[in-house]
Amino acid sequence: MVVGTLTENVDTLVLGSGPGGYVAAIRAAELGQKVTIVERDYIGGVCLNVGCIPSKALITAGHHRQAMLNGSPFGLASQGVSLDFSKTQDWKQNTVVHTLTSGVEMLLKKHHVQIVRGEARFVDNQTVSVATEDSASQYSFRHAIVATGSRPVEIPGFAFKGRVLDSTGALNLPEVPEHLIVIGGGVIGTELAGAYLNLGAKVTILEGLPRLLSGFDQELTKPAIDDLKQHGATIVTEAKAKSVEQSEDGVKVTYEVGGHEEVVAGSYVLVSVGRRPNTDEIGLNNTNVKMGERGLIEVNDQQQTSVPHIYAIGDIVAGPALAHKASFEAKIAAAAINGDDVHDDHYALPSVAYTNVEVASVGETPTTIKDKGLNAKAFKFPFAANGRAISMAETAGFIRLVVDQETQAVIGGQVTGAGASDLISELALAIENGLTVSDISLTIHPHPTLSEGIMDTAELAEGLPINI
Ligand code: NAI
Repeated sequence: MVVGTLTENVDTLVLGSGPGGYVAAIRAAELGQKVTIVERDYIGGVCLNVGCIPSKALITAGHHRQAMLNGSPFGLASQGVSLDFSKTQDWKQNTVVHTLTSGVEMLLKKHHVQIVRGEARFVDNQTVSVATEDSASQYSFRHAIVATGSRPVEIPGFAFKGRVLDSTGALNLPEVPEHLIVIGGGVIGTELAGAYLNLGAKVTILEGLPRLLSGFDQELTKPAIDDLKQHGATIVTEAKAKSVEQSEDGVKVTYEVGGHEEVVAGSYVLVSVGRRPNTDEIGLNNTNVKMGERGLIEVNDQQQTSVPHIYAIGDIVAGPALAHKASFEAKIAAAAINGDDVHDDHYALPSVAYTNVEVASVGETPTTIKDKGLNAKAFKFPFAANGRAISMAETAGFIRLVVDQETQAVIGGQVTGAGASDLISELALAIENGLTVSDISLTIHPHPTLSEGIMDTAELAEGLPINI
């Protein structure tokens, strides 16, 4: 830790240590830069500490509970399933999160990255001050990479306090709620709703739009939403949350639907209606960094802001708020600072919802090809025709390829069902490298696997299907 009031000269200064910041710091160090990273909360940022990783831990625990409850196809019977949620939370925090965050800290140290704890704020185009409760220090940098991430949006009347939770609060509950009310059925809302449903909670989702997971197309999300319903979730769409009343042991949420007001009582309410960039409290007004819409920083295809030696990456620049996007941009920024001729020219940016039946998409979809008037067609292969899926009793969902009709190149792909979050990488690889459907169909896929379904879909697109 560095404490002091003198200005220290540093080479590359990284603000924030999430999947944007820590990756930028390590890559910059690998490329020979002397790196200092500033973090006000936890190393690893939201993703590792209170986001992607711990949510996956709870989701996995929920899957195990469901597997124990639903063993009958395999001839398994359990004498009731009990859950000690304090053990789940302990494992999530002290094994899963701790392993990763301490690993990141170790990697930073291994690369001789100087770690500074405290709240960073730009003083001018050259200088950042870092404050802790009892100290202040200043750093004059040659280059800066801003990777300060985002935070949950609050809605009026639903301040995060007590039983009104943001995603961090919802991940750190001391018990499985008897009834969790979720406002906002986007990625965070549906993932956490699914996790707690699987862990034994009753769940009500209030969504403002006509459907959940509206970032994905409707056909793709149907199996996941059907599954939520089958597990007993109450889903109210076109619902506008109005107010909440808290008592010692519960909440009452008033919402408007179909022109009238309804009240739902539960034990906690999670508000997951989006995230906003952390750009408002870091002194950017003291710099010449040009801001874009909605508090986002404008950058070029090297992640460079209007101040050429200040770069910005991740949730604070345009595009979806995804950890893997931040990490990708991090490597571009670090290389650009190095003077390398790098540019963000990616085609494929996959996104995944870790619902019980997973949803994953990359590139074009049937909706976007229509909107853009592309000469492309979608081909769909159901998991119900895949040997591995059948042997896993996981037949919900499908694989879909979106194929350019002139070149036969794969320009989009979606998977919903078992393993979607991993399978989508093969489709991203295909798109990024301009592969055609015959490149996929001529690649031997192991049997029996879920990934074989991608080869089957390619054969379908060629008009030569075997398994359907
Ligand atoms: P989101 O933008 O995905 O969903 C917010 C939902 O809330 C939308 O469906 C919206 O219509 C609804 N909504 C907004 N105001 C409302 C209101 N007053 N009443 C009822 N519904 C309302 O935002 P979310 O889920 O908070 O996630 C934030 C970001 O985090 C996402 O953009 C996503 O990129 C990222 N994320 C990614 C994950 C992943 O990759 N698996 C997991 C979790 C988050």
